[in-house]
Amino acid sequence: MINRAIFLGILISFVAARNFEFACCSMRLQDVHYFISPLSAGRVCDPQSSDIKPVRNGLGLAPVTVVAESESDQPAFLDTIFVGGVKISEPTTETYYTSHTSFVIGLSGIQVPSGPYFVDTFTGEAYPVFRLYDDFAGAFSQSLLQTPDGHFQPLSAQGPSSGSITIGVPSRLYFTQTKEKPLVGVRSGVKDIFPLAGMKRSNGNRAWYGLYPPANSTSIAIQNLIDAGAIIVGLQKPSQFANGETPTADWVNYHAPFNPRGDGYQDTASSSAGAGSSIGSYEWLDLAVVSDTGGSIRGPAGVQGVFGNRPTHGLVSLDGVMPTLDTVGFLTRDPYIWDIANAAFYGGNFTSYRHQPPSYPRRLHGLDFPTANSSKGRILSGFAANLADFLGARVKPLDLDKEWARSAPAQAKGQSIAQLLNTTYITLISKDQTRLLRDRFYEDYAGNRPRWSTPLCQSPPPLARWSWGDGQPESAYDEAIANKTLFMNWFNEKILPPSPNPQTCSSSIILHTDSTGYLYSRNRYLNPPALPFTFSNGLISVFAETPDSVYPLGEIPVFSAITNHTELVPVTVDIIAARGCDSIIAQLAKDLVAAGVLAIPRTGKSLQGGEILR
Ligand SMILES: *[C@@H]1O[C@H](CO)[C@@H](O)[C@H](O)[C@H]1NC(C)=O
Ligand SMILES: *[C@@H]1O[C@H](CO)[C@@H](O)[C@H](O)[C@H]1NC(C)=O
Ligand SMILES: *[C@@H]1O[C@H](CO)[C@@H](O)[C@H](O)[C@H]1NC(C)=O
Ligand SMILES: *[C@@H]1O[C@H](CO)[C@@H](O)[C@H](O)[C@H]1NC(C)=O
Ligand SMILES: *[C@@H]1O[C@H](CO)[C@@H](O)[C@H](O)[C@H]1NC(C)=O
Ligand SMILES: *[C@@H]1O[C@H](CO)[C@@H](O)[C@H](O)[C@H]1NC(C)=O
Repeated sequence: MINRAIFLGILISFVAARNFEFACCSMRLQDVHYFISPLSAGRVCDPQSSDIKPVRNGLGLAPVTVVAESESDQPAFLDTIFVGGVKISEPTTETYYTSHTSFVIGLSGIQVPSGPYFVDTFTGEAYPVFRLYDDFAGAFSQSLLQTPDGHFQPLSAQGPSSGSITIGVPSRLYFTQTKEKPLVGVRSGVKDIFPLAGMKRSNGNRAWYGLYPPANSTSIAIQNLIDAGAIIVGLQKPSQFANGETPTADWVNYHAPFNPRGDGYQDTASSSAGAGSSIGSYEWLDLAVVSDTGGSIRGPAGVQGVFGNRPTHGLVSLDGVMPTLDTVGFLTRDPYIWDIANAAFYGGNFTSYRHQPPSYPRRLHGLDFPTANSSKGRILSGFAANLADFLGARVKPLDLDKEWARSAPAQAKGQSIAQLLNTTYITLISKDQTRLLRDRFYEDYAGNRPRWSTPLCQSPPPLARWSWGDGQPESAYDEAIANKTLFMNWFNEKILPPSPNPQTCSSSIILHTDSTGYLYSRNRYLNPPALPFTFSNGLISVFAETPDSVYPLGEIPVFSAITNHTELVPVTVDIIAARGCDSIIAQLAKDLVAAGVLAIPRTGKSLQGGEILR
């Protein structure tokens, strides 16, 4: 086995100001690629008195397994086993694992979690092992190593790949869940718009990445996740400044990630494109931290068929992200992890029902909900009927225009919802982005590079939006806020008020279908980007500040011109609860999984798994 180990590379990066930083190396053992953390977990033996054998040409490093109380099953690490909790006076040779002879050494007095390590045979220090994976979907922009002091550095490893980076994840064996660390060992990606201490971010833009220094601190919400034990393994590609890009022409700065579902060449949706792609593609990733201004979480959840939540606006402080409409949430395949992650992320602003079950609303509405006359309609209306059964409710159709005609506030002066809110979204985002992001960015860029007054190449969507915003008077912003507030107050009073019972929270649950169950291939030629005018059901939560989440339901067959075969694409539902009632959504998802109404989606070509096409 040792002869088959091939030492792959070592990198010592010199860091100005400090002396140098050891970034360490990667190794191939029995055809699996590993990264050896440069951060020691502790000294497990006295190198003088130990004769463990290093990998030939492995700089004195030997693969070992530490068994503190649990077991290991990674054969490449079984040549040497350190056993804690029992007294072993002399090293012995044992066959603990089927047909594998191990050199067994007693582990004395140190606290090293069980699992595989590389021991430095010169010093006796044990270095944690990360398994390396190829980001073949192109979902990540940077690979990260999280240090115990809460900083990040690039994970300096590259396995075999074609135009993609390599991500390292620590062995799951190191972690044991505790009350204080409910997310211990949960592997998460973070959208590359959030500050992480020690890292630069791109915001989906190369000029931005080049211009600004690394962040000095990690944003509060993400620090909450880390404090709960989550491991941040990489930054994930957003579309530019989180505006939304359509593959592949709009992606002028970074190449568009791949959607694993169906024929493997569909749009991931954006702006949380890398996050959606990764949660649909990689079994080794549990969670992605994402943001939603006008659909950036719900779109990728919808077309990749995973759970995702746009939370109540303002649930968490948004340092470094756009304030007016932005929200921060998750994409995940597992509603159990979703619930725990929400509780950690939103701190006191989220009451988990894990220990005291909610008393669910008994009212259920279908907003422009399809009938069972198509395969998509059958899945959606079947879910609505099952949910109604589960809640002891009936599905009642909801017609927002009719309700508005009946009870619109006088200030709306007889305007329809479509008239009132037609330009509200684009006014708010274009004015916010130009004022809070573009103007400072351009100024900083010009200051650094006198030859150019603006960054060289932005994607068409933000440019079109900003230029539309520049043509609007300053007063349009206040008018947009007034229109948004009018709708918000009406919706939250007349359509979806809170329930008087705190265990129920939301007076009702509203189902709608955003965009789901269709093909949107990445090999199309595009028209110039359209501006986001007009009201749609996806904007209800944006204006009314309610949570809006996505549940994956099933799949329908659609003919793909790429494979010349029928392929399955996901069908998902959007679920809206009253403002502040986020807690019931993940709990309901868990309860519906337990009741067999929902299924946990798998990674791969289909929600049932299967090899991703390429
Ligand atoms: C981090 O701190 C240094 C030193 O105080 C400062 O020069 C730098 O601009 C800060 N970086 C950011 C992103 O704020
Ligand atoms: C909870 O929400 C409030 C109001 O939006 C916000 O100010 C606060 O920072 C949030 N708390 C946490 C822990 O995020
Ligand atoms: C299903 O019914 C809706 C209205 O009830 C109609 O708009 C739609 O065209 C029908 N779809 C099919 C496939 O028949
Ligand atoms: C929405 O605004 C756009 C741009 O001003 C306009 O072309 C369109 O007709 C408007 N639609 C409605 C329903 O008012
Ligand atoms: C606000 O609503 C009025 C209708 O009451 C509409 O004419 C106007 O275009 C809207 N403006 C924005 C920015 O939403
Ligand atoms: C696609 O499939 C059809 C039916 O099987 C076949 O007739 C056709 O030649 C195929 N087209 C290509 C480009 O392979």
